[in-house]
Amino acid sequence: MTSPTERSTPDAPWWKTATVYQIYPRSFCDTTGNGVGDLAGIMAHLDHLEWLGVDAIWLSPVFTSPMVDHGYDVADYCDIDPIFGDLEQFDRLVAEAHRRSIRVVLDWVPNHTSDQHPWFVESRSSVDSPSRDWYVWREGDPNTPPNNWEAALSQGPAWTWDEATASWYLHLFTPNQPDLDWSNGAVRDAMLDTLRFWLDRGVDGFRMDVVHLIAKPDGLPDRPGGPGPVIIDIDEPAVHDHLRAIRSVLEEYPQEPMSVGEVYLLDPNRVATYYGDQDELHLSFNFIALHGPWDAEHWNREIRAAQDAFDPVDAWPTWVLSNHDQTRHRQRYGGSERIARAAAVLLLTLRGTPFLYAGEELGLVDADVPRDQQQDPQGRRDGCRAPIPWDGTSTHGWQRSDNWLPFPPESTVRNAASLRDDPTSILHLYRRLLQLRRASRPLRVGGMELLDAPAGVVAWERSVNGERVLVIVNMSDDPASFDVVGEWNVAIDSSPAADVATRPYDGIVAAQSGVVVMPAI
Ligand code: GLC
Repeated sequence: MTSPTERSTPDAPWWKTATVYQIYPRSFCDTTGNGVGDLAGIMAHLDHLEWLGVDAIWLSPVFTSPMVDHGYDVADYCDIDPIFGDLEQFDRLVAEAHRRSIRVVLDWVPNHTSDQHPWFVESRSSVDSPSRDWYVWREGDPNTPPNNWEAALSQGPAWTWDEATASWYLHLFTPNQPDLDWSNGAVRDAMLDTLRFWLDRGVDGFRMDVVHLIAKPDGLPDRPGGPGPVIIDIDEPAVHDHLRAIRSVLEEYPQEPMSVGEVYLLDPNRVATYYGDQDELHLSFNFIALHGPWDAEHWNREIRAAQDAFDPVDAWPTWVLSNHDQTRHRQRYGGSERIARAAAVLLLTLRGTPFLYAGEELGLVDADVPRDQQQDPQGRRDGCRAPIPWDGTSTHGWQRSDNWLPFPPESTVRNAASLRDDPTSILHLYRRLLQLRRASRPLRVGGMELLDAPAGVVAWERSVNGERVLVIVNMSDDPASFDVVGEWNVAIDSSPAADVATRPYDGIVAAQSGVVVMPAI
């Protein structure tokens, strides 16, 4: 196992071979009894993550925040919100994670701050404020917003009228999340310093929230086609200059910090440009596959589209099925555990860096959150943010049974402790897949070739220097047969049967899905 203090292997930088595990800190584990998860709760479960075999944890924002958007509204980029703990605990968490060879990635929110951030409070105080141009202000008519852009998480315009200074300010998300103006060099410098603050404390990288939005189109023109949110449209050339400046800061540090951008452009060709010439983002999410069904035609098409977009420019792909903004994938795919298992095989064997969302290794579906308990400003994302059930007791390893959100269904049996006791569980399947990835050069760094497969099936080969791994995922409800040449051994079969270890796999019949390995000669 590579220690985070060691440099990357000659094979590849660490972020190419790592599996990153997203933690939504509010929902991971509470140790104080306030019903909200905290840093100590994360520390308490690092052993579980080490056992599972993840290489890095990404923490959704833990900075000081009024929590209107649960941390994605930052009031101080250089401190920990007291609900989660403090800087001393954070340093301990980093040290404890590193001791287990787990890297720590923070969630950096560069596009907007909280309206409670001192920068905005100052900017808003007067039209003559020295910080006025840190945000996007427009004077005008209080009844007519400056353009037709709409906010993404709240109803109505992306502009709020400020009575005191008789001006509009821009917020692509809620009115409590004013957009910073990155064309102002002072803003850019201040934000780059916030990266240094955490890099100095030893963090290993950043997930960069909606980072494609930090450059706005000149003159803020109306959205063509009428009013609507613009967060999946903005894609300005000026963003690349900012990304190069960000990359230079990361390269000042010996820990080889990684950046992964939440580039919410639903086109892999546009996403690929955010890697620049290996001088912008290290990685970027490609969400297009996540937005489709569990369907072989869809996946064959999107895998090929990603290859066509990323490979020619040497951009390392990423794969993700669930996160804190989307209905969990098991639920999206209809709730079947069989599909969730096959999806784990898919996610952990494609070429690229996989991102897991805490709880998917337990096969969780969303919690049912009654209307009067909703917490999300958008009212849509609470279900996937439910607390992680750690054991089968009434509090599931938390301090109480009523937390900021209800537990997901079946938590009495579907929890980390129960699934750990069952070697056939989905949790063990994730662990075996992660072990196999670590042990297999083709899976870590090999090339990938999609194979012609029967209807309903996606199959591909990963290979490097003659070592080969074959992956077959049957996305249909029917058994499918798949002819392969040569003798292969099954390394992992996603079916719930006990570990199949190695058994000959002649002329493969992929009733479900599996990973097969060509034995060494
Ligand atoms: C990103 C985050 C989301 C947040 C939004 C505004 O899309 O993933 O949770 O609400 O940005 O910061």
